[in-house]
Amino acid sequence: MSTFTDSLNADLAVMEKAGTLKKFRHIQTPMDTQVTMEETGKALVLSSNNYLGLANHPEVIEAGVAALKKYGAGTASVRFICGTFTIHEQIEAALAKLHHTEAALTYVSCWTANTGLIPTIATEHDALISDALNHASLIDGCRMAKAKRYVYKHSDMNDLESKLKETAAARRRFIVTDGVFSMEGDIVNLPGVVTLARQYNATIILDDSHGVGVMGKHGRGCAEHYNLEHEVDITTGTLGKALGGAAGGYVAGPQPLIDYLQQTSRPQLFSNALPATIAGSAMKAIEILEREPQRIARLHHLTKMTREGLKARGFKPLDGESAIVPLIVGETAFAIKMSQEMMQEGIFITGFGYPVVPEGHARLRIQISATLTDEQVQFALEKFEMVGKKLGVI
Ligand SMILES: Cc1ncc(COP(=O)(O)O)c(C=O)c1O
Repeated sequence: MSTFTDSLNADLAVMEKAGTLKKFRHIQTPMDTQVTMEETGKALVLSSNNYLGLANHPEVIEAGVAALKKYGAGTASVRFICGTFTIHEQIEAALAKLHHTEAALTYVSCWTANTGLIPTIATEHDALISDALNHASLIDGCRMAKAKRYVYKHSDMNDLESKLKETAAARRRFIVTDGVFSMEGDIVNLPGVVTLARQYNATIILDDSHGVGVMGKHGRGCAEHYNLEHEVDITTGTLGKALGGAAGGYVAGPQPLIDYLQQTSRPQLFSNALPATIAGSAMKAIEILEREPQRIARLHHLTKMTREGLKARGFKPLDGESAIVPLIVGETAFAIKMSQEMMQEGIFITGFGYPVVPEGHARLRIQISATLTDEQVQFALEKFEMVGKKLGVI
């Protein structure tokens, strides 16, 4: 055992020396625009997926507590044994309605949904054609599948078409893509993907984890943004970002797909059901999303203000339409250093580097929440300017 732990410690020491070791920060209050950190006290959060500010919304909390009281702490079983509760049916109906699909199925996370979906429907006679910048859970889902795997250059429709031509003999073909690309903040070219999918008879799998609650006038995601809601065959998503932020994921699509996943998707067969309290909170979050579309308009306003404010101060944030505003700063160690400097100024923002993004493209990923005030955004911009000048970024 000691040689094993010694070798792990040696690996960790290499990361420490390179300045790439990630350190957890400890939050002592609920997730919100403002939190208290164990290490540095009060901080403004620009690093969470709490896009609509619902993680600490009183109604969302109350709904979670009500479900906890009604259904108890746990399901204590997988779905098909004795773990399906009425609230599962209700949240799945709400998710199907949100995505205009026939049905939906919940998982304990979107990671589990992606890795429970893709290997189940893409087997040895099939082909998976996946965007190069897809989220790790889609990549792992594809790796777990017995289907042949192809990767097309990020958002490159010519390359996607050539892969579709190459796979003409496959029984089923799937185009696998994020809606909002989580490290770049750009969005899928859905009109291009839909045109090619229909032309080559392929099925679209769209993971809209960062798009739901953000994209489209009603927050129904990238498909709504493009007015292509009935053209996406399969949508996966998370309940752990805009929709309450606790955990939980889902697949939404045609009824036969959901029926098939219930029978064969391994996490459905061998892993516990979504806790009722999360289903309760997420249902309330969906209700608020439908009731208060002004949250989405506010999110877009603040994102635009942030992007323009950064540009006016000499930064070059990546362009995009989502609520993710990446600032590329170079090496991993530098991104971590800049995030530490920002932390000292009361702004909680994480630096992302290798292996999440390629070395040399490390970044600070700003994520906006609809419940930030204009003053808070201005305060953050001033701190960016101060730290950016100090470190020679601007
Ligand atoms: C595109 C995408 N898919 C899936 C996930 C995983 O979601 P969950 O936290 O529900 O497993 C994430 C989370 O970062 C994501 O960005």
